[in-house]
Amino acid sequence: MLPTRNRAPTNLSAMTRTAVVTGASSGIGAATAVLLAKQGWEVIAAARRLDRLEELAAEHEGIRPQQLDVTDPLSTQALADSVAACDLLVANAGGAFDLDPLSDADIDAWARMYDVNVLGLVRSVQALLPALRAAKGHVVMTGSTAGYWVYEGGGGYVAAKHAVAALRQILRLEEVEHGLRVSEVAPGMVKTPEFSLTRFAGDQARSDAVYAGVDALVAEDIADVIVWVATRPRHVNIDLVQVTPQQQAASHKVIRRP
Ligand SMILES: NC(=O)c1ccc[n+]([C@@H]2O[C@H](COP(=O)([O-])OP(=O)(O)OC[C@H]3O[C@@H](n4cnc5c(N)ncnc54)[C@H](OP(=O)(O)O)[C@@H]3O)[C@@H](O)[C@H]2O)c1
Repeated sequence: MLPTRNRAPTNLSAMTRTAVVTGASSGIGAATAVLLAKQGWEVIAAARRLDRLEELAAEHEGIRPQQLDVTDPLSTQALADSVAACDLLVANAGGAFDLDPLSDADIDAWARMYDVNVLGLVRSVQALLPALRAAKGHVVMTGSTAGYWVYEGGGGYVAAKHAVAALRQILRLEEVEHGLRVSEVAPGMVKTPEFSLTRFAGDQARSDAVYAGVDALVAEDIADVIVWVATRPRHVNIDLVQVTPQQQAASHKVIRRP
């Protein structure tokens, strides 16, 4: 039996804890920032669109907006410089930019996907690592089932999210002696307003077709899991949670209502 001290949950309301959430201007990141703030965390909500973050901060106490472009090392460093302490980094900024077969893939789109999903995550972790180590903090990455399953046309995004899955395991190995916790939440199909629209360059009909006949996950479902992962007792490291809609058993196997 561990002493009580080590079994304490990490979201005690008496302690104000600080979380940085990247990609917080929409979808999963925004929902996670809101849920953390509701649970008493001080939340730095970061993304490129400052107006969206300011709206979020105006609507919810405990959220501070911070402009961030994870593809720019000066921007991730400015984020770190603006943060006095960091107990939790939710490394969530990312997205898919195509659904093209490898034979026709636009290499620039793949490079952009790698930059935001993989290198952006690394830049965010590197910049905040001193604060995270000082706090014996926690990095929770938003991966994807695309980090574990492959599908035609997914090449650039699937490869990037496979890299995220690898980095989660590598960071776990490298930071265990510094007292950090490292986790990945890997969702399947989540109906967020922008994810598929971004993938299909604003084509609303193509985006809607992704979710047709499916009770897809919503951003709040994943926020709920991220916050659960982040609020286990300190001695518990949740390595990986995969979350899918009931109707999605694999990338290809989605049972749609007619
Ligand atoms: N929706 C799904 O089905 C699904 C499934 C599995 C995994 N995921 C992953 O979950 C995460 C969130 O996805 P979502 O569905 O919530 O998508 P979303 O609504 O499109 O949100 C993406 C977020 O990332 C931010 N972002 C993009 N590029 C950025 C950059 N260079 N610097 C900083 N922030 C940047 C966006 O904000 P700005 O544009 O304001 O910068 C936005 O806040 C992503 O990593 C995605 O790959 C999504």
